[in-house]
Amino acid sequence: MNENQSGPKHIAVIMDGNGRWANARGLPRKAGHRAGAEAVREAVEICQDLNIDYLTLYAFSSENWDRPEDEVKALMKLLERFLKTKAREIAKKNVRLRAIGRLHLLPDHVRVELDRVIEDTQHNNGLTLVLALSYGSREEIVDATKSLAQKITRQEITPDEITNETIAEHLYTSDLPDPDLLIRTSGELRLSNFLLWQLSYAEIFISQKNWPDFRKADFEEAIQEFTRRNRRFGRV
Ligand code: IPE
Ligand code: IPE
Ligand code: MG
Repeated sequence: MNENQSGPKHIAVIMDGNGRWANARGLPRKAGHRAGAEAVREAVEICQDLNIDYLTLYAFSSENWDRPEDEVKALMKLLERFLKTKAREIAKKNVRLRAIGRLHLLPDHVRVELDRVIEDTQHNNGLTLVLALSYGSREEIVDATKSLAQKITRQEITPDEITNETIAEHLYTSDLPDPDLLIRTSGELRLSNFLLWQLSYAEIFISQKNWPDFRKADFEEAIQEFTRRNRRFGRV
């Protein structure tokens, strides 16, 4: 059988193009981010409808801290508002919220809300929504390497005992399966420091649409395309 029997269990999305969406409408970038947050709420509902188990959204990268201060501030405010309002709705729908990244770098007003929603939803068993915040894959690998090195120093493991699984267990995503489908919006053909380890064998779907315009039909198209792919994992 050349085709995938089933759809993806874990979809990861690089939600790109909020700025271009706003620019095309003569609006400030901030308005694009607001529309992007609305699209996130919709994406969660769509993935629930489509029986996806895990949805990981790249919301703010390690490198995004280098954007102008007022844009970073606006994004953090928006994130706080999202967590206060939309995340509550999501919680009621049996969604479990998780976050990956250097979360300690987020401002306190965001951390407080984030921790609260994660705690409130920890026993939900519907869709797992993973927000990548202050996330960089290289930073994640550095953090994993540090904690492994500390275990070696404490003689809890030996270097010879390190395997693929040991590394995976020390990443922020230790209890999550690898994504099987990566979607990037707005046509960019790069990973931008997102889940470099975990995406090793993911199928990639690039959409020309900007993130605020990426809707249910687009998710369906990506999933359809996924089921047509022949995943070989290096075999023949
Ligand atoms: C993605 O949209 C959202 C974040 C990175 C926070 P962008 O802000 O990167 O939008 P473009 O790429 O400038 O259009
Ligand atoms: C990637 O988008 C990060 C997020 C979507 C959060 P960017 O807009 O930051 O990526 P580059 O700069 O185009 O590579
Ligand atoms: Mg961008």
